[in-house]
Amino acid sequence: MHTTSTAAETQSTVEAARSAAPEGQRVAVVTGAARGIGESIARRLGRDGLHVIVADLLSMQDGIDATVDEIILAGGTATGVTVDVTEEESVAALIAAAVEAGGHLDVFVANAGIAQVKELLDYDAEDFQKILDVNVTGVFNSYRQAAKQMVAQGHGGKIIGAASIVAFRPFALLGPYSATKWAVRGLTQAAAMEWAEHGITVNAYGPGIVGTAMWDLIDEKLAAKNGQQRGEALAENAASIHLGRVSVPDDVAKMVSYLAGEDSDYVTGQTLLVDGGIQFS
Ligand SMILES: NC(=O)c1ccc[n+]([C@@H]2O[C@H](COP(=O)([O-])OP(=O)(O)OC[C@H]3O[C@@H](n4cnc5c(N)ncnc54)[C@H](O)[C@@H]3O)[C@@H](O)[C@H]2O)c1
Repeated sequence: MHTTSTAAETQSTVEAARSAAPEGQRVAVVTGAARGIGESIARRLGRDGLHVIVADLLSMQDGIDATVDEIILAGGTATGVTVDVTEEESVAALIAAAVEAGGHLDVFVANAGIAQVKELLDYDAEDFQKILDVNVTGVFNSYRQAAKQMVAQGHGGKIIGAASIVAFRPFALLGPYSATKWAVRGLTQAAAMEWAEHGITVNAYGPGIVGTAMWDLIDEKLAAKNGQQRGEALAENAASIHLGRVSVPDDVAKMVSYLAGEDSDYVTGQTLLVDGGIQFS
């Protein structure tokens, strides 16, 4: 196993990685990489030749281990690190772990996020605070800590955040979630403006309907609300996808590969939709 364990949820450390980054290799951090879209992004960046820091909550240690192993089996190099993105010091420790493993930081993908499905009138303050903490404060912590490291290094970098189609068009029952993704889009634009002088580009990706654990939850809650069978709410929403199929995580990973690579050097401040044609920006 090429993984990490930590004493506390809020601490992230790196274990001596048997797959340390060779000299000169670009280094990417991906948060929420134990499963779903983050896992796919981590695997893709590994195939692209970057040393990947696979980061997720301590409770997702098995998924972290599995993603690291998959990258290494495919011929790449990776290190597992635990993080809670809601805690700034945990994200700072994640950056330190990345630098320890790879010598520097070139790409940070702030992918970690959660969804909640509820009518606005049913919301309680605790749930609302929770989604703000993960989806907004988590991205704020990630962007800032990554930028601090990149500014100190002095040779630019790529910061990439997870927005969503709902950053352009909210879905009913996903109100606070939609608001957090609008916030990511706004923060991405402001960060791009402030950090351009340091050669740092900041962009976000906006997936549509991707078949992950997150959409399992959304489908379950929408179905319960609307008196439908499991799968019906997903099928109903999928009918609006012009390319005619629900997205897979690899669709998103391809976009992130572009944003992490030199072909996107002249792109900054953008939230790029990768949704099969649901919403036109
Ligand atoms: N699935 C979709 O259809 C869809 C659509 C648009 C945007 N997105 C966004 O893409 C990103 C990934 O979504 P997914 O579908 O893979 O979700 P997922 O639930 O399958 O995975 C999210 C990962 O984030 C991790 N995470 C949650 N809170 C964390 C924290 N505080 N610190 C560190 N890690 C944490 C989870 O442990 C999990 O591994 C999210 O930001 C999501 O909002 C997803």
